[in-house]
Amino acid sequence: MAEAMSTAEPGETKAEAYVRVGKEIAAIVAGETSHTARYATAACLLAHNFGPRFFWTGFYVVDPHKPSELVVGPYQGTLGCLRIPFGRGVCGVAAQSGETQLVADVHAFPGHIACDSRSQSEIVVPVFDADGKIAAVLDVDSSELNAFDADDQAGLEAICETLLTA
Ligand code: SME
Repeated sequence: MAEAMSTAEPGETKAEAYVRVGKEIAAIVAGETSHTARYATAACLLAHNFGPRFFWTGFYVVDPHKPSELVVGPYQGTLGCLRIPFGRGVCGVAAQSGETQLVADVHAFPGHIACDSRSQSEIVVPVFDADGKIAAVLDVDSSELNAFDADDQAGLEAICETLLTA
Protein backbone atom coordinates (compact mmCIF):
# COMPACT_ATOMS: atom_id res chain seq x y z
CA MET A 1 0.00 0.00 0.00
CA ALA A 2 3.06 2.29 0.19
CA GLU A 3 2.44 3.53 -3.34
CA ALA A 4 -0.94 4.90 -2.21
CA MET A 5 0.76 7.01 0.46
CA SER A 6 1.70 10.56 -0.47
CA THR A 7 3.13 13.32 1.63
CA ALA A 8 2.33 17.03 1.55
CA GLU A 9 2.64 18.36 -1.96
CA PRO A 10 4.40 21.61 -2.85
CA GLY A 11 2.06 24.58 -3.16
CA GLU A 12 -0.80 22.75 -1.51
CA THR A 13 -2.69 24.53 1.26
CA LYS A 14 -3.43 22.67 4.47
CA ALA A 15 -7.14 22.61 3.62
CA GLU A 16 -6.33 21.09 0.21
CA ALA A 17 -4.08 18.51 1.83
CA TYR A 18 -6.90 17.42 4.13
CA VAL A 19 -9.25 17.02 1.16
CA ARG A 20 -6.65 14.94 -0.69
CA VAL A 21 -5.85 12.74 2.32
CA GLY A 22 -9.56 12.35 3.10
CA LYS A 23 -10.17 11.07 -0.42
CA GLU A 24 -7.26 8.63 -0.12
CA ILE A 25 -8.59 7.28 3.16
CA ALA A 26 -12.14 6.97 1.78
CA ALA A 27 -10.91 5.15 -1.33
CA ILE A 28 -8.84 2.66 0.65
CA VAL A 29 -11.49 1.82 3.27
CA ALA A 30 -14.46 1.72 0.86
CA GLY A 31 -16.37 -1.49 1.57
CA GLU A 32 -14.22 -2.36 4.59
CA THR A 33 -16.43 -3.19 7.57
CA SER A 34 -13.69 -3.54 10.22
CA HIS A 35 -13.47 -0.40 12.33
CA THR A 36 -9.92 -1.35 13.27
CA ALA A 37 -8.91 -1.40 9.61
CA ARG A 38 -10.59 1.95 9.00
CA TYR A 39 -8.96 3.60 12.03
CA ALA A 40 -5.54 2.12 11.19
CA THR A 41 -5.72 3.45 7.63
CA ALA A 42 -6.66 6.94 8.80
CA ALA A 43 -3.94 7.01 11.50
CA CYS A 44 -1.29 5.89 9.02
CA LEU A 45 -2.17 8.29 6.21
CA LEU A 46 -2.65 11.28 8.52
CA ALA A 47 0.65 10.66 10.32
CA HIS A 48 2.60 10.19 7.10
CA ASN A 49 1.09 13.20 5.36
CA PHE A 50 1.26 15.64 8.27
CA GLY A 51 4.27 14.41 10.20
CA PRO A 52 6.45 15.54 11.96
CA ARG A 53 3.88 18.13 13.10
CA PHE A 54 1.74 15.10 14.02
CA PHE A 55 3.87 13.66 16.79
CA TRP A 56 1.20 11.16 17.89
CA THR A 57 -1.81 10.27 15.73
CA GLY A 58 -4.37 7.70 16.72
CA PHE A 59 -7.69 6.57 18.05
CA TYR A 60 -9.13 5.84 21.46
CA VAL A 61 -12.24 3.72 21.00
CA VAL A 62 -15.22 3.29 23.30
CA ASP A 63 -14.80 -0.03 25.11
CA PRO A 64 -17.94 -2.10 24.34
CA HIS A 65 -17.60 -3.76 27.77
CA LYS A 66 -17.15 -0.45 29.63
CA PRO A 67 -19.12 2.15 27.67
CA SER A 68 -17.80 5.10 29.70
CA GLU A 69 -14.17 4.21 29.09
CA LEU A 70 -11.89 4.64 26.09
CA VAL A 71 -9.27 2.05 25.19
CA VAL A 72 -6.38 2.70 22.87
CA GLY A 73 -6.87 1.73 19.23
CA PRO A 74 -4.68 1.98 16.13
CA TYR A 75 -2.05 4.72 16.36
CA GLN A 76 1.27 5.98 15.04
CA GLY A 77 3.73 7.43 17.51
CA THR A 78 5.31 6.76 20.87
CA LEU A 79 3.67 4.53 23.49
CA GLY A 80 0.14 5.71 24.33
CA CYS A 81 -1.75 5.17 27.59
CA LEU A 82 -4.09 2.20 27.38
CA ARG A 83 -7.30 3.50 28.95
CA ILE A 84 -8.94 6.88 29.52
CA PRO A 85 -12.25 7.26 31.42
CA PHE A 86 -14.89 9.56 29.87
CA GLY A 87 -14.46 13.07 31.27
CA ARG A 88 -10.72 12.70 31.97
CA GLY A 89 -8.00 14.37 29.95
CA VAL A 90 -8.54 15.92 26.53
CA CYS A 91 -9.71 12.63 24.99
CA GLY A 92 -12.16 11.88 27.79
CA VAL A 93 -13.67 15.38 27.59
CA ALA A 94 -14.09 15.05 23.80
CA ALA A 95 -15.76 11.64 24.24
CA GLN A 96 -18.10 12.87 26.96
CA SER A 97 -19.07 16.15 25.29
CA GLY A 98 -19.08 14.89 21.69
CA GLU A 99 -17.20 18.07 20.78
CA THR A 100 -13.77 18.67 19.29
CA GLN A 101 -11.15 19.86 21.78
CA LEU A 102 -8.49 22.17 20.35
CA VAL A 103 -5.79 22.67 22.98
CA ALA A 104 -2.97 25.15 22.24
CA ASP A 105 -1.06 24.29 25.43
CA VAL A 106 -1.77 20.93 27.05
CA HIS A 107 -0.21 22.09 30.34
CA ALA A 108 -3.03 24.63 30.67
CA PHE A 109 -5.75 21.97 30.20
CA PRO A 110 -7.05 20.74 33.56
CA GLY A 111 -6.57 16.98 33.89
CA HIS A 112 -4.49 16.58 30.75
CA ILE A 113 -2.99 13.08 30.61
CA ALA A 114 0.68 13.16 29.63
CA CYS A 115 1.41 9.89 27.82
CA ASP A 116 4.59 11.47 26.44
CA SER A 117 6.01 14.58 28.09
CA ARG A 118 7.05 15.94 24.68
CA SER A 119 3.42 16.59 23.72
CA GLN A 120 2.72 20.33 23.91
CA SER A 121 -0.54 20.85 22.00
CA GLU A 122 -3.33 18.60 20.91
CA ILE A 123 -6.56 18.26 18.96
CA VAL A 124 -9.15 15.57 19.71
CA VAL A 125 -12.09 14.97 17.36
CA PRO A 126 -15.04 12.67 18.14
CA VAL A 127 -15.96 9.85 15.76
CA PHE A 128 -19.63 8.87 15.59
CA ASP A 129 -21.16 5.70 14.21
CA ALA A 130 -24.04 5.56 11.73
CA ASP A 131 -26.53 5.84 14.64
CA GLY A 132 -24.90 9.06 15.86
CA LYS A 133 -23.38 7.37 18.92
CA ILE A 134 -19.83 8.21 20.00
CA ALA A 135 -17.61 5.35 18.83
CA ALA A 136 -14.09 6.73 19.26
CA VAL A 137 -12.00 9.87 19.31
CA LEU A 138 -9.14 10.80 17.00
CA ASP A 139 -6.28 12.26 19.04
CA VAL A 140 -3.45 14.18 17.37
CA ASP A 141 -0.61 15.54 19.50
CA SER A 142 2.26 17.83 18.55
CA SER A 143 5.59 18.47 20.22
CA GLU A 144 5.12 22.16 19.34
CA LEU A 145 2.86 24.59 21.21
CA ASN A 146 -0.20 25.88 19.33
CA ALA A 147 0.33 23.50 16.40
CA PHE A 148 -3.32 23.19 15.35
CA ASP A 149 -5.79 25.72 13.99
CA ALA A 150 -9.27 25.97 12.49
CA ASP A 151 -8.06 24.36 9.22
CA ASP A 152 -6.90 21.31 11.16
CA GLN A 153 -10.19 21.18 13.02
CA ALA A 154 -12.27 21.43 9.82
CA GLY A 155 -10.08 18.92 7.96
CA LEU A 156 -9.99 16.34 10.73
CA GLU A 157 -13.70 16.71 11.50
CA ALA A 158 -14.54 16.11 7.83
CA ILE A 159 -12.44 12.94 7.81
CA CYS A 160 -13.89 11.70 11.11
CA GLU A 161 -17.44 12.37 9.92
CA THR A 162 -17.15 9.85 7.12
CA LEU A 163 -14.91 7.33 8.86
CA LEU A 164 -17.74 5.08 10.08
CA THR A 165 -20.65 6.32 8.00
CA ALA A 166 -19.46 6.30 4.37
N1 SME B 1 -3.09 13.57 26.07
C1 SME B 1 -4.27 12.79 26.00
C2 SME B 1 -3.99 11.34 26.34
C3 SME B 1 -3.65 10.52 25.17
S1 SME B 1 -2.09 10.65 24.66
O1 SME B 1 -1.54 11.95 24.59
C4 SME B 1 -1.66 9.68 23.43
C5 SME B 1 -5.38 13.32 26.88
O2 SME B 1 -5.16 14.14 27.76
O3 SME B 1 -6.48 12.88 26.67
